[in-house]
Order: sequence, then C-alpha cells, then structure tokens
Amino acid sequence: MTKLLFRTNRAIAIQVLSRYKSNAAPLTLTTVRIRDKDHITDEYTNVTPKILSYLGRNLHLQKGNPLSIVRQRIVEYFYRRFTHRGKPTFSVYDNLLPVVSTKQNFDDLLIPNDHPSRLKSDCYYINRDTLLRAHMTAHQTELLRSGLDNFLMIGDVYRRDEIDSTHFPIFHQVDAVRSQRKEELFCDKPDLEIFEPEFDSSNPNALKNSIMDPMKQSCHTLEATKLMESQLKNHLIGLCKALFGENIKHRWVEAYFPFTHPSWELEIYYENKWLEVLGCGIVRNEILANIGPNNSIAYAFGLGLERLAMAMYKIPDIRLMWSTDSGFLNQFQIENINANITYKPVSVYPQCTNDISFWLPETLTVDTFTNNDFYDLVRDVGGDIIEQVKLKDKFIHPKTKKHSLCYSIVYRHLERTLTQAEVNKIHKQIENAVVKNYNVVIR
Ligand code: DAH
Repeated sequence: MTKLLFRTNRAIAIQVLSRYKSNAAPLTLTTVRIRDKDHITDEYTNVTPKILSYLGRNLHLQKGNPLSIVRQRIVEYFYRRFTHRGKPTFSVYDNLLPVVSTKQNFDDLLIPNDHPSRLKSDCYYINRDTLLRAHMTAHQTELLRSGLDNFLMIGDVYRRDEIDSTHFPIFHQVDAVRSQRKEELFCDKPDLEIFEPEFDSSNPNALKNSIMDPMKQSCHTLEATKLMESQLKNHLIGLCKALFGENIKHRWVEAYFPFTHPSWELEIYYENKWLEVLGCGIVRNEILANIGPNNSIAYAFGLGLERLAMAMYKIPDIRLMWSTDSGFLNQFQIENINANITYKPVSVYPQCTNDISFWLPETLTVDTFTNNDFYDLVRDVGGDIIEQVKLKDKFIHPKTKKHSLCYSIVYRHLERTLTQAEVNKIHKQIENAVVKNYNVVIR
C-alpha cells in the first residue's frame, strides 16, 4: 500500500526533460471529459485514459468487495461509538467526485508550493489547476466550510507509484475530522479554555500560531491539546481492536503532516512485523480559522483501506481488489460484516519475467529518467497483468559514456495462465512504446 505521501520532505525528484505521453493519450489531446465536464489540458496533463477508466468503479461501495466490508466496519464503529440521542454524530461522505483543485488537495491544507507531494511525477494532473485527488483529506476544507464538524470522507485516491503486489496507482482511504467547541470538550470543567489567552484570532495583529513546540500549536492550551490527543488515540486504538481483535499490539510514532500538529502514525504488530496503518493529528488552527468563527479544536486522521483489508483477510496481491472473478468475490459475499474470513487463493498462476534494457538518449541520464513515468507507460500498454516492474541495473559505458537502464517486468494474470508467446507479444509492444516515447535504443 502506498506510503503516507504527505508526511515528509522527500528529496525532490529531478524533472525529466522529455514528457511522457502514451500512445493512448496523444499530444493532440486538448480536453479530457470526466462525468460530462470537459477539462482543458495543458503541459501539466499526465492523466491517462487507462487511469480515467477506473473512475466510478467505486470498489469501496461494491457489495462483496473486501474494501466495502472494511468500510462498513469502520463506519459502524464510529456510529456505535458516537451516537447522540439515538442519532450518529458523524456524517459519511463516500461518493465525492475524485476530481479536485490544487487548492483543495494542497493549498487549503497548508501544503507548501515546493512540497514534493505536488510533483507531476507523483500525481495525476488533469491540468495545472486540477487533479485526481491524491488523498481524501482534499475534501476536508469544503466539508468544514459547509458547516460540518464530525465527518468521514471515504473514496478512491490516485498516486503515481511503483508497481508491486502492494502498490497500485488507485487505492482507497477513509479520512475523518472530529471538532469540538469549548462547551463540549470541557463540558464538566467550564473554567478551561481551548485557546491561550494571548491568542486572539479576531485580531490580525495578535500572536501568530506556531508549531515550534513539539507538544502543541502555540494558539492552543496544553489542556485542550492533551484532551484531544487522548480522545484521538483512544478512538483509533478502539478502531484497531474492532478490526483486528482485542489483543492487537500497537505503537504510536511521531510524524509530520503539513495540516496537523502534533501528528502521529499508528502501527500495529501483525504477523511478526510493524505495519503502519494510519496518520493523524490535531488540525492546524489556520485551516479552521480560514473557514469560520475559529472557536473549536479538531482532530483528523487518514487510513488506507487496501492495507487493512489485505492484512485482515490475508489477501496477497493488491490487484485482487479489482478482480471481477467469482472465485475471488464469492469469498466475500457475507451477511455478517464481522465474519472471520481468510482468503483462499483460487489457484496460483505462474509468473513470467522478461527484462527490458535500453540506451538512453543524450538528454537523459540514469538519474534523471523518471521511474513513475516509465511505470505508467508499462501499465498503459500491458494493463493489469503487470505484476511488478523492478529496476535491475543502471549502467554507464566506461568508454562511450552512454547511459543504460535495465528493468525486469513481471507478468502474471490473476485468473489464468499466460503463455510465453502472449507475454512476448505484449513485451514487444512495451519496447516499441518506450522507444517511441523516450527515444531510447533497445539493447
Ligand atoms: N492525507 C494523509 C496521506 O494520505 C494521511 C493523513 C494524515 C490524513 C493525517 C489526515 C491526517 O486527516 O490528519 O498521506
């Protein structure tokens, strides 16, 4: 499953000189149509027809898909835990269109302009201002602005990434916000406050909020932060127990996200290793203050459904989530969402590995060639039978100084055996596409 991309300042990948456009998305393409709306393309456009074909599949809403079962269990947990006068306090948004603005996905969440998560090599841009959401947190501000204070956002997110059994460019997240005003947070201690006395949000000259102190944001009191932190951690440990059983071992790891402070990640000990399951924290006050009266404090978290479902049901390959094979789906047709299920492989079909190696043109080096562009191209031509693409070798010829790369492409169909001849044909098509797009010479 994809790592939490927004947490660190990863080294900025070097932009490549040549721009990847697949055969399927020719350079002449000027608009992209999504749900009856035309979007003008520009030099940022890198979304491919293949990726767009996944929009609307909504695996998290398909009965009998493991992601949908995990979604229901999470929603049920929050409904059970937070019911006020018989009504759930959390509203659930699970059908929001994945097309968002860069403002929603980044700016509103205080993600700096030069943050690596904005790079073209990491996101699917429709154009300079519009992209397929890279996280469900992209909807946080619009929902807060609409007046909501407790809500879950569930849906498909899109990130360009490597290819292997745990990574797929589309996956599903649950993101949440829970906000409280002073009367609710300190209902039995009316003399406590959310904000420090010297912080006055209505006065632009007042103390600015800072995150220098690792314990809290400068605007918040320690009492308010600690109480929110303990609620947040209790609620999330409760969720892990509801999903993995009472005895699940866990640990909190300090983290950084631009939109929360302090921030943490929760890891669970599962099958002899620590597995990172979510990111969370206290929402930066600037985000809440930009929206409204600035009289509340909120916590937020985000988790990936694939990672949970793969662990809970022992599903070995992320691509299986997309399977329409009845041998897979029938195993998850259950009446009781809490039933114990262990996935039994329908049958394991053999892998087939072919290498591809090529000389780069003079404009590219082994270090400036963007792997994610290459992965997208391979997946575009090869489709879902691409199980993995691994960089095998980088080579610089000692005399000619020419640069060369070698990748292994692992092919496997999830539902039948592939013949070598069939694989060779697709491999050849990939070679042709790579030659055409990057001007390389196959070795
Ligand atoms: N959006 C983050 C990611 O996808 C995960 C996350 C972290 C969501 C902290 C949150 C949060 O709401 O508070 O990497």
